[in-house]
Amino acid sequence: MKVVTEIAEIREQLAGLPTPLSLVPTMGALHAGHRALLQRARDLVSPSGAVAVSIFVNPIQFDRPEDLRAYPRSLEGDLEICRDLGVDLVVAPEKKSLYHPDHSTLVTESLLTRHLCGATRPGHFDGVLTIVLKLFNLFQPAFAVFGDKDFQQLALIRRMVRDLNLATAVVGYPTVRETNGLAMSSRNIRLTPVQRADASRIQRSLKAARDLIATGECRPEVFLQSARTHLLTGAPDEFAIDYLELVDPENLQPVAKVRPGVLIATACYYGEVRLIDHLVIKP
Ligand code: PAF
Repeated sequence: MKVVTEIAEIREQLAGLPTPLSLVPTMGALHAGHRALLQRARDLVSPSGAVAVSIFVNPIQFDRPEDLRAYPRSLEGDLEICRDLGVDLVVAPEKKSLYHPDHSTLVTESLLTRHLCGATRPGHFDGVLTIVLKLFNLFQPAFAVFGDKDFQQLALIRRMVRDLNLATAVVGYPTVRETNGLAMSSRNIRLTPVQRADASRIQRSLKAARDLIATGECRPEVFLQSARTHLLTGAPDEFAIDYLELVDPENLQPVAKVRPGVLIATACYYGEVRLIDHLVIKP
């Protein structure tokens, strides 16, 4: 497995890799959810292709400097996981290799970013789409694999690929969960053990709201009130809801009526640690 940090080296290494290429873009602090993405990436190109991973904590997608500072970093452990899973190339650049000092071009999407994280994290998705486009340009991967957990991010990347005629096939992978139902995230290690156990309330609350569909209920405010009550009942003092919304899964706009297929999504804080999760409403 090759590990490179400079753009010139990346291009050189890529030229020597077999095709097709699967790319898994990450910000490191790899966990079981990433392992599943890497396995999917390998399956997509087996037996002859190659798998590349990027590890880069992309500063321009952080809307709060303290969040960027506190983002977990564990390069040695990440490399071990990549080695273990037979990754061919790891690219772990510094900011200066990827962004020119007076970098001034951003990718902006103007519809799917209006709600959910797009509304509460200004500029976040400009940063995500910009780095993903840069990575797609650099790697020219046949496939790129992302977790469904970041539902809005995945929808936006698909939209960008469609709107900008990119050639990469974007592949989503179902959310991997801890045994208590908490969605796996690199941020989970910043929770205390008590918070980590408590955070099962997020998925539980979304499920409790979802189950209202079986009663014939279709008013969004009733679903949202149910989820809000479950989220807040017995929650620790440092717990707060950032947003809780019901949106159409295609355009991510709020719905007037809840029907099967609609998405209920939330972002919550335990102190400074922000967690996201969602659920598709099904009968
Ligand atoms: O999901 C992530 O880890 C990041 O947002 C991504 C897609 C690697 C872009 O920095």
